[in-house]
Amino acid sequence: MSDSKKCRGESMLRHKSNARGAISNDFVGYEVLIDFIQKRKLHKLEGDIIEIGAFMGGGTAKLARFAGKYDKRVYAVDIFDPGCDKTQDSSGAKMCDIYEAFLQGRSQLSVYQQTTHHFDNIVTINMDSKKVSFHKGQKFIFGFIDGNHQPDYVRNDFYLIWRHLVPGGGIGFHDYNFDLPEVTATIDELIKKHSSEISEIQEIKDKHILMLTRKKGGK
Ligand SMILES: C[S@@+](CC[C@H](N)C(=O)[O-])C[C@H]1O[C@@H](n2cnc3c(N)ncnc32)[C@H](O)[C@@H]1O
Repeated sequence: MSDSKKCRGESMLRHKSNARGAISNDFVGYEVLIDFIQKRKLHKLEGDIIEIGAFMGGGTAKLARFAGKYDKRVYAVDIFDPGCDKTQDSSGAKMCDIYEAFLQGRSQLSVYQQTTHHFDNIVTINMDSKKVSFHKGQKFIFGFIDGNHQPDYVRNDFYLIWRHLVPGGGIGFHDYNFDLPEVTATIDELIKKHSSEISEIQEIKDKHILMLTRKKGGK
């Protein structure tokens, strides 16, 4: 891996090993997402969980294990084309090159399927997130956004979840205040626009995650 890919690549690797040093195929450390859901008792609300950007499926599997306890599904949206996100981080490294370096020639979809095949409550949506839509009655209690890092995709992915997020539900954004300034600016713009509908904002600095909670009543 070249030096320009090192910062983000090393950060991804740190999260890839669990406490015992085993590889988990979860780059963010989804325990913080599950902790957020549990602390706010979001699993008691009616609806499912959605993840945009599943990559190798380690995080998807963790969400599915948790969701299964409450008879909920995990919708995992991914284009499964590691070459498609050409966004550059502040060191000049392209996301697609980082993903390809981690895959080492393996098919992303095959790795994902191997990681997630034990779970019957995962609905995999193998599609560009801009082409995804849900029926009106679909409800989400929590969504995590870590797909394409272009501002128009961050916006698209937010609304894909927001339109179906139940009152009291939460959204997590990855890459907040890290090495993708346009992602941070887009998240700030969305939060400003929807501030009257948001009850809580929490930044998890060491994970570069921003969480928000939708107000329970009205606007
Ligand atoms: C940073 S990785 C996700 C890492 C994952 N959240 C984790 O922590 O293990 C970003 C993912 O977004 C996917 N992606 C990129 N562009 C996409 C698009 N237009 N629609 C859906 N998924 C996309 C990529 O295929 C990649 O798997």
